[in-house]
Amino acid sequence: MKKWRPFPVLVGFLFSFLLIATFLFPTGTAAFDRDSKWDSVYSKGSRLYLIHCAACHGKNGQGGVGLPLNLQSFLSVAPEGYIRRSIFYGRLPRQMIPYGTFLKKEDIEAIATYVRSWQLRDYVGIDQKRVAGSVSRGKEFFDGMCSGCHGRDGLGGPQVGGGHVTNAMAGYAGPALNNQGFLKSATDGYIKATMMQGRVGTPMGAYLKGKQGMVELTEEEINDIVAYIRTWEKRDSGPVDPWRDK
Ligand code: HEC
Ligand code: HEC
Repeated sequence: MKKWRPFPVLVGFLFSFLLIATFLFPTGTAAFDRDSKWDSVYSKGSRLYLIHCAACHGKNGQGGVGLPLNLQSFLSVAPEGYIRRSIFYGRLPRQMIPYGTFLKKEDIEAIATYVRSWQLRDYVGIDQKRVAGSVSRGKEFFDGMCSGCHGRDGLGGPQVGGGHVTNAMAGYAGPALNNQGFLKSATDGYIKATMMQGRVGTPMGAYLKGKQGMVELTEEEINDIVAYIRTWEKRDSGPVDPWRDK
C-alpha cells in the first residue's frame, strides 16, 4: 500500500492559503497608508492642485515656471510641513503668491497630500535640530560655489523653474534661498539634506564628500553654509502657519 505523505499535502494547503490571502488582503508598497479618508482628501487635493498650481508646476508636477514637485530626491527629504508651509507662505517676489491668505488650512493640507502621492521613496528621517556652523566661512563657500546659480546673496537665478524631464540643463537657474517664504518653510535639516544629496535630474548637485559631486564638502562645511543661509531669515510679525515644528 502507498504510504501517506503529509508533507506535500501540507505544502499544497499552505500555498493555496497564501494565494487566497494575497487577494483578500492586498498589501501596498506605498510610502504611507491609504484609506477612504485619504481617497477623499486626495481627490479634493487633485482638484485644487489643477486650479491653483498646475499652470506653474505642471499637471504631473514635472515643473515649468515653478520647480518640479514630483522628484524623489525632493520628496524624500522634504519634511511633512515643508510643502504645506511653502503653499501657505508662497515665494514672493518669485511669482508664487501666499495661498495662506485665501485658502483654508484643510485645502492646503489636501493639496499637499496630493503632491505627496507622487512620493514613491520613503521619507529619509532628518534631524530637525538647528544646525550650528561658522557664518563667515559659510558666506565664503556660498559666494564661491552657490551664488552662480542661486544668485548674489541668494536672491535667486534670473529664471525660475523648468521641467526636469525636458530642458533641465538649459535656462534653468537656482531658486531664491534668501526668500522669506522659503526660509519660513524650510528646516535646517531640509536645507542640509538637499545640499548633501542634491536633486537627481536637476542642476542641483550633491555636495557631501563621497557623493561624487563636482565639489566635495565635509559635513561641517555644509553646516557652515546652512548657518549662513539662516541669517537671511527676518523675524517679522506676519501670519504664522498652523503646522509649526512639523
Ligand atoms: C549649477 C547650478 C547650481 C549650483 C552651483 C547650486 N545649486 Fe542649489 N539648486 C539649483 C537648482 C536648479 C535647484 C532647484 C532644483 C529643483 O528643480 O528641484 C536648487 C535647489 C537648491 C535648494 C533647495 C531650494 C528649495 O526651494 O527647496 C537648496 C537649499 C540649494 N539648492 C542650495 C545650494 C547651495 C547651498 C549650493 C552651494 C553649495 C548650491 N545649491 C549650488 C542649482 C544649483
Ligand atoms: C505663478 C507660478 C506659481 C504658482 C501658481 C505656484 N507656484 Fe509654487 N513655485 C513657483 C516658483 C517660481 C517657485 C520657486 C521660487 C524660486 O525660483 O525662487 C515655487 C516653489 C514651490 C515649492 C518649493 C519647491 C522646492 O523644491 O522647494 C513648492 C512646494 C511649491 N512651489 C508648491 C506649489 C503649490 C502646491 C502650488 C499651488 C497651491 C503652487 N506652488 C503654485 C511658482 C508657482
